[in-house]
Amino acid sequence: MSEFVTIAKVGDIPEGTGNTFHVGERLVAVFNRGGEYFAIDDLCPHMGASLGAGCMDEQGVVTCPWHAWHFSVADGTWCDNPRIKIDSFEVRVEGDEIQVRATPRGKP
Ligand code: FES
Repeated sequence: MSEFVTIAKVGDIPEGTGNTFHVGERLVAVFNRGGEYFAIDDLCPHMGASLGAGCMDEQGVVTCPWHAWHFSVADGTWCDNPRIKIDSFEVRVEGDEIQVRATPRGKP
């Protein structure tokens, strides 16, 4: 599945924050950094916390709310061990709709 899914309207995710949305069968954490939107897998690979509930700093690094692992919203890199990445997703704005591509980056 490669189509884009509307997850929210522009303005629903205040700048500097994120939230969790259903995209197909998955939960995706979408963040607004300086008016640009980024999407990563919502499920923290450590013990499954929701990364959409984490805090994002000005560099676009999200801190997991449970045990403070760090992930880049830009591409899902686990900042504490950059050889490992969680899935990230393309995001686009069509009119006033924020849309996330249902297939993660790098996957067919
Ligand atoms: S569940 Fe995310 S760091 Fe532990």
